[in-house]
Amino acid sequence: MLYSEKVMDHFTNPRNVGEIPDANGVGEVGNAKCGDIMKMYLKIENGVIEDVKFKTFGCGAAIATSSMATEMIKGKTVEDALKLTNSAVVEALEGLPPVKIHCSVLAEQAIKTALADYYTRQGIDPTPFVGELKDPDEEHLACETE
Ligand code: FES
Repeated sequence: MLYSEKVMDHFTNPRNVGEIPDANGVGEVGNAKCGDIMKMYLKIENGVIEDVKFKTFGCGAAIATSSMATEMIKGKTVEDALKLTNSAVVEALEGLPPVKIHCSVLAEQAIKTALADYYTRQGIDPTPFVGELKDPDEEHLACETE
């Protein structure tokens, strides 16, 4: 079996799909090569992620990792959410085939971009908190070998 049961579960029944009209952190990342796009909405109150939703035009692995990632940051503080890595999401999903690891980067990047937007909206420079965002295009080169 190429995909774990957890991946299949989150792919066929993704959590937190949709959008939040009054989100106060929104991030969109995409990749020109495979055309996958992901948009992340965060509703943050008193430094805690009260709600999170995502929309994606992406492959199954991108859907499964976003679904799992949103579950992992819901109810967490902004600081904790910033610590979420794509490898932690992949681990929670009990692994992904190597050619699909880059898809999980899209989920991490979407969350980080949404958190950066949250800081920016408050007039705070996000760079010290969010750091340099990895270039999803670079990580995405693996798409071409599929
Ligand atoms: Fe999965 Fe690009 S995000 S193929």
